[in-house]
Amino acid sequence: MILSIESSCDDSSIAITRIKDKKLIFHKKISQELQHKNYGGVVPELASRLHLEALPKILQYTKPYIKHLKAIAVTNEPGLLVTLIEGITMAKALSNSLNLPLINVNHLTGHIYSLFIEKEAITPISVLLISGGHTQLLELYDINNIKLIGQSLDDSFGESFDKVSKMLGLGYPGGPIIEQMAQKGNEHRFAFPIPLKNSPKIEFSYSGLKNAVRLEIEKQNLNTQTMYDICASFQYAATTHLLMKVKKYLINSTIKDFAIVGGASANLYVRDKFTKLTQKLNKNLLLAPLEFCADNAAMIGRVGVEQLNQNLYKYNN
Ligand code: KG4
Ligand code: ZN
Repeated sequence: MILSIESSCDDSSIAITRIKDKKLIFHKKISQELQHKNYGGVVPELASRLHLEALPKILQYTKPYIKHLKAIAVTNEPGLLVTLIEGITMAKALSNSLNLPLINVNHLTGHIYSLFIEKEAITPISVLLISGGHTQLLELYDINNIKLIGQSLDDSFGESFDKVSKMLGLGYPGGPIIEQMAQKGNEHRFAFPIPLKNSPKIEFSYSGLKNAVRLEIEKQNLNTQTMYDICASFQYAATTHLLMKVKKYLINSTIKDFAIVGGASANLYVRDKFTKLTQKLNKNLLLAPLEFCADNAAMIGRVGVEQLNQNLYKYNN
């Protein structure tokens, strides 16, 4: 079995994955959303201290599996340095004391492999990663061969939801809040600009859209219906931008399988729009289960198995 640890942002999580069949034997996560809510975003130092409390608490539950462990996997990049270090320190201590190899896992590769928890990987596959930290279009050929097709020039998709939520005084994380408010709104009331609409390049941008929303909020006398309409119109523009760019890419790609991963891939409006787009283009859409869209250690363990099998790790002596 592999013990995996995730602490790249505001979720402390540990999982145990069985190597031979990739079965998820144990998985627990403690989120810090409540503690960061009042600040409108993640406060790194606070997050770090909360990981320091939460990780040992979760680790206690893994005692029955310790004797079966063959390796320790940990998210080592990208993420907040002061929170990554909490997971890495625990992983190194376990690796040293149990004399087990340490597998460093890239967090973004983890999000891609959230598609394959308890499953074999499907390759090649095109993947849209939409999280709080990143917006990227990628092609996965192998654990060691991931090609970046395009990414955001500025803010990420999830981050723009967080910022619009903050502007409206609605709290953190903004994604689920905006999605819910948008359900009651008119998405065509405000014609926010669709980013990079006339550019042929496969790249993303959210800072212009965010500023357009800010200007509209400043102009409006905010009542509840107006807030709903702003959320709906923003979500429409943000998602249409993704759809336009991904469509441009997909019509020129021979890869049949297309997936959306990352925390923001839990958005049902996004899922619905991409279901329709992929049906029209005759592509096969894959989505991670909702419980594995946001940060978690199960996806890190899944990558851990892949790297262990391909000897992509080091001994931590
Ligand atoms: O993958 P994740 O848990 O952490 C990072 O690696 O960044 O993603 C968190 C991000 C946050 O920005 C959050 O607002 C966004 O995902 N998010 C959503 C939704 N649920 C979470 N964005 C849009 N709609 C959602 N339903
Ligand atoms: Zn993430």
